[in-house]
Amino acid sequence: MDWGMKDRLARIIKPATGRTVMLAVDHGYFLGPVRNLEQPRRTIEPLLPYADALMLTRGILRNCVDAGTGVPMVLRMSGGNSIVGKDLSNEGITVAVKDAVRLNVAAMALSIYVGSEYEHQTLMNLSKLVDEGEEYGMPVLAVTAVGKELEKRDARYLSLACRIAAELGAHFVKTYYCDEFEKVVKSCPVPLVIAGGPKLNTELDALKIAHDAIKCGARGVDMGRNIWQSKNPVGMIKAIKAIVHQNASVKEAARMLEGSRSAKR
Ligand code: 5RP
Repeated sequence: MDWGMKDRLARIIKPATGRTVMLAVDHGYFLGPVRNLEQPRRTIEPLLPYADALMLTRGILRNCVDAGTGVPMVLRMSGGNSIVGKDLSNEGITVAVKDAVRLNVAAMALSIYVGSEYEHQTLMNLSKLVDEGEEYGMPVLAVTAVGKELEKRDARYLSLACRIAAELGAHFVKTYYCDEFEKVVKSCPVPLVIAGGPKLNTELDALKIAHDAIKCGARGVDMGRNIWQSKNPVGMIKAIKAIVHQNASVKEAARMLEGSRSAKR
């Protein structure tokens, strides 16, 4: 791997622990003003000091994040779909790699929809982005998206999707936590981070998936809704950070979260 590529990856996956806490705020690209992300700047600003990287679209980067934060940006490069459209898997590449370079981002992200109507198109999007990324030393994060079919998220399907992403050249992969997650990790030769998915019933559930994913070998999280749709987003990202970088147990992280809640009162 070339120096530039290695350096960009090391800005995201911290060399001290080999892990990362990425904050995902890219949801508006197909969901519009989703709950608690109606005004992205207000959501992002208090959380930014705790994020190892921020995943977002170029529109939100240019309009809602000040330059000079020092936090590496992971730019969403795919889209062209919407939650009310015909098929979420019908995504194209919506950003020129040159613009990603101009924005000085640390990585480019796109979704792949394995097993969907537009599987081929999204896998070709990945391959092309990897080819172009290699030219600029720009890593690619492949997101194993399932659209509305959340029930697809089992070890068999996610192993298949993650492995395909790695085979096509993704430098790291974002996927979902599932039972037998160690199988997904073992069969994927590049680092895996987990999404949180739609807001879980409790904060404890989100801490638990982060903890169990790390225990199975995930290299971190790229979490959105389970952080900023929580009643205590800052407490939540701090608790997740303790799990990811300090190997905190779920109990310890929950205690931290509870502590920050009482401190706020
Ligand atoms: C959808 C995405 C999302 O936009 C987002 O990044 C997911 O984060 P979370 O599920 O933790 O809210 O990648 O495929």
